[in-house]
Amino acid sequence: MRLIIPDFIENIVPYPPGKPQDELEREYGVKNSIKLASNENPWGPSPKAIAAVSAALANLRRYPDGASYYLTQALAAHHGLDASEIALGNGSNEMIEFLVKAFIREGLEVICSHPSFLMYQKFTQMRGGRCLVLPLIGMRHDLEAVLAAITTDTRLIFLDNPNNPSGSALDPAALYSFLAKVPEQVVVALDEAYIDFASPALHLDTNSLIRDTKNHCPVVFLRTFSKVYGLPGLRLGYGLMAKEVAACLQKVRQPFTVNSLAQAGALAALKDRTYFDDIVARNRRGREFLAGRLSRLGCDCLPSETNFIFFDIHADADRLYEAMLYKGVIIRSMRAYGHPSCLRVTVGTEEENARFLAAIEECLREIRA
Ligand SMILES: Cc1ncc(COP(=O)(O)O)c(C=O)c1O
Repeated sequence: MRLIIPDFIENIVPYPPGKPQDELEREYGVKNSIKLASNENPWGPSPKAIAAVSAALANLRRYPDGASYYLTQALAAHHGLDASEIALGNGSNEMIEFLVKAFIREGLEVICSHPSFLMYQKFTQMRGGRCLVLPLIGMRHDLEAVLAAITTDTRLIFLDNPNNPSGSALDPAALYSFLAKVPEQVVVALDEAYIDFASPALHLDTNSLIRDTKNHCPVVFLRTFSKVYGLPGLRLGYGLMAKEVAACLQKVRQPFTVNSLAQAGALAALKDRTYFDDIVARNRRGREFLAGRLSRLGCDCLPSETNFIFFDIHADADRLYEAMLYKGVIIRSMRAYGHPSCLRVTVGTEEENARFLAAIEECLREIRA
């Protein structure tokens, strides 16, 4: 075999896959571990979504509806948009990929921040594009630096709002003023994977930003069913955008990228507003409780608009991460993100939060001794 691999592919470091929970349990000799590392909704999806997925199993022998007709119509009604202003993908991951495929080729540039969601960089590399990665300032996107960095090669800007891993959201006034200054040919993708957990005052006027395209850059809002809706296993993300942008994304997608179970589950989840509101309220209570208790343990928590908390233990985060694993609690060290004394924990159920707090209290005592 003689592989000839383009440099830009050869240089990609693959996204680090996490170990299955069973494997970790075997390795660390623990049972009944809890995973608070991937910002999943610990209560899972609406029971109505599970029932809809079960019913859809009967039709697996058929190809899915390639246009996701009913789901697209429902999303359009939900957001007060036209179906032509919506595009769907296999997780918001794939929406990011569609944007890069549609607008980037070798020589063109994407701007994103660090730390933030890693896939903006990976997809750009896969396409042979350049990715300019700007540091967060005070753990927030540095909008002034982004504006200053735009060149004639810039085609896409990714801003996760709220940001993962800091949990911070941008001030809408600052964002409106930023968007007014971005050149018209640059697409700004606001990745709102966690926006449903954020305070309503931080939500933008999605529809006017999408429709106000005269002398204005195109804005794409990325959403997902993986977080508040509790359906990451189904892989469904979507974007809200001007119809011209959506038409471009339709050109770069496979015909059946959203499977039939995802369509059925998401449609039922979207309709269950009572369950949705309950998850948002439970998350808010859990987040406040965890932040309060972590502060009492001498940790500094960043204010969070999400379902996770970024906190500083003022000691070695990797050591705490390891010690927690031995207690069967999986969280995420932020050393790899350039913050060696910080960790990120996902808000869990009340029981999981209590286990996490009992474990971290003991582990902090050990590593601070
Ligand atoms: C900021 C952000 N964007 C996108 C995603 C990807 O979500 P999806 O499951 O919809 O692909 C994540 C996942 O954690 C995320 O944190």
